[in-house]
Amino acid sequence: MKSDINLMEKIVSLCKRRGFVWQGSEIYGGVGAVWHFGPLGVEMKNAIKRHWWATFVLRREDVVGIEGAVIMHPKVWEASGHLEKFVDWLIECKHCHARHRVDHILTPEEYKIDEKKSEISAHIKRQIKCPSCGEELDLDFIAKAKPFNLMFKTYLGPVEDRASLTYLRPETAQSMFTDFKLVLESSRQKVPFGIAQIGKSFRNEITTGDFFFRAREFEIAEIEYFVKPESVEKGADEKAFDEWFKLWKKFYTDLGIDEKKLREYEHPKKLLAHYSKRTVDIEYEFPFGWSELAGVANRTDYDLKRHMEFSGRDLHYFDEEIKEKFIPYVIEPTLGVERVMLAVIVDGYSESDGSDGREKGEVVMHLHPTIAPVQVGCFPLVKKDKLPEIAKKIYKGLSEKRIRAYYDESGSIGRRYRRQDEVGTPWCVTVDFESLKDDSVTVRDRDTLKQERVKIKELNDYFFSKLNLS
Ligand code: GAP
Repeated sequence: MKSDINLMEKIVSLCKRRGFVWQGSEIYGGVGAVWHFGPLGVEMKNAIKRHWWATFVLRREDVVGIEGAVIMHPKVWEASGHLEKFVDWLIECKHCHARHRVDHILTPEEYKIDEKKSEISAHIKRQIKCPSCGEELDLDFIAKAKPFNLMFKTYLGPVEDRASLTYLRPETAQSMFTDFKLVLESSRQKVPFGIAQIGKSFRNEITTGDFFFRAREFEIAEIEYFVKPESVEKGADEKAFDEWFKLWKKFYTDLGIDEKKLREYEHPKKLLAHYSKRTVDIEYEFPFGWSELAGVANRTDYDLKRHMEFSGRDLHYFDEEIKEKFIPYVIEPTLGVERVMLAVIVDGYSESDGSDGREKGEVVMHLHPTIAPVQVGCFPLVKKDKLPEIAKKIYKGLSEKRIRAYYDESGSIGRRYRRQDEVGTPWCVTVDFESLKDDSVTVRDRDTLKQERVKIKELNDYFFSKLNLS
């Protein structure tokens, strides 16, 4: 475990030093669990989002996208159940006054929540210690646990009263339910079909730490996939659930994540979110332990029914084929964009043992070319004899074709390769003296370290075919 903590420290430091991620408002001492993405981080995050959108929206006839607002009508959160149920139960240690989530210190068998009475009861046969000060937490304390709503409050307009109180969305899902009819009518989709969205979500998380794994401001990429309900076609929801789960997992393995580090976690019935009939998470083995990357939930007709009830609008779907009206069931594959990023960084990070032609300890980040912040490094071997001009021209040509290229002429060529290896650049192009004679350059592959000569005029096509673009 010690070496894993060490590994996380190295990754945190690399991410800051090379411009991936750092703490928000750092010059003021930082804001807890709020992160900023630097020049390389923003490229990578955007690339992940574009790749997700292309995979699940652009390449599918049955999925369309929307972009809802962060601020919605306050009634949305009443209808969705978030106002009442999107809570963590907290206990406060009487010795050090630290607050802890009950579900982080007790097992699901050890406590029961009565939501109606807003109270908790515990059955514990062991000694529970405060994770902060180590003093004992007795049953009395646990009985005093209080629900804490994770939604950030804000006010609409200049008057801060109950009537203007609203919330920053804790998930993107709700606008896909409230806009269900509008999307249906404007896109002429037919059930089964999905609405997709990527967007900022906000949760006032209690437990933070583990770098940017659990943030208070983060982006969710999710789909609400509408299918026939049980009453109309038995098993349609379960079939869609299984299909989406496979696709969701494939998204990670296609990005090169080691399958052995992924596992499935089926939520016990007792701990299911208030809207869910079934939820299965995809977890990744981070250096700080197995943790949730993504999930697929069967939300049934819960949300549409609730919005019908609270808004008074009819959200039924009329199926022309079977001439029947129904409220669809919803399968929801969801993931956190930053968690994809953290997983690929952790999974791709390696230190050479010296047997692969590199020096021992050299860092290489094996990022998939589709999401690497820099895809091609462009170098002149030396800063003279027109080599920089040629390398710059190559850099400009690639950039114009929207390949993420980076020009670097400082330091030895070995150092420049190492700098790119460390941030996951899959290929580097070097212009040398031969280039002046044969109009070719050396292309070096990050993973195999193989070098090949490629004609300058063929470079665009060469990288396009490697990146699967056209
Ligand atoms: N609409 C369903 C929903 O929001 P969730 O499991 O609460 O489900 C979706 O969140 C995804 O968002 C999770 O699978 C996780 O990857 C990510 N996520 C959740 N809380 C997060 C946080 N505090 N920081 C970063 N990512 C988070």
